[in-house]
Amino acid sequence: MGIIVKGTVFSGLGEGAYYLSQANYVKQIQEKLGFIPYPGTLNIKIDKNTGIQIFNEIKKFKQIRLDPFFDGKRFYVGVSCYRAKINGSMFGAVIRADKTYYDESVLEIIAPVYLRSYFNLKDGDQIIVEILE
Ligand code: CDP
Repeated sequence: MGIIVKGTVFSGLGEGAYYLSQANYVKQIQEKLGFIPYPGTLNIKIDKNTGIQIFNEIKKFKQIRLDPFFDGKRFYVGVSCYRAKINGSMFGAVIRADKTYYDESVLEIIAPVYLRSYFNLKDGDQIIVEILE
């Protein structure tokens, strides 16, 4: 059945674009999730206690792992991915890096399209994410 989460779009520090531009991650996402991600993560803010519950719950879901790697200069951490449906129509994934400075009040979403344009989103807008089991 999955979990339905409502959250508010916000801008981060632009780091998602950097990570999602790393060829190794892109290749793993393409192979394991089946799409080439738009280079970035859409951040959404949720209630922290709800977030803690969600992260606990989705551990039982089908998890897709991006393996950590070293590109000759630096290490990139492993990432857990959970398939998700955004606003009832676009498939993507909620991702959680093994190391992140975000607490459980933030969900990061990747998708094959630029979601802000696809759904006409700006900071403060609400979106609905269904995390698929
Ligand atoms: O600055 P921030 O960390 O929020 O962004 P980013 O991860 O570097 O992503 C660049 C921009 O694309 C941000 O405005 C994201 O919200 C947006 N984005 C999107 O609309 N759809 C995606 N599939 C991924 C990112």
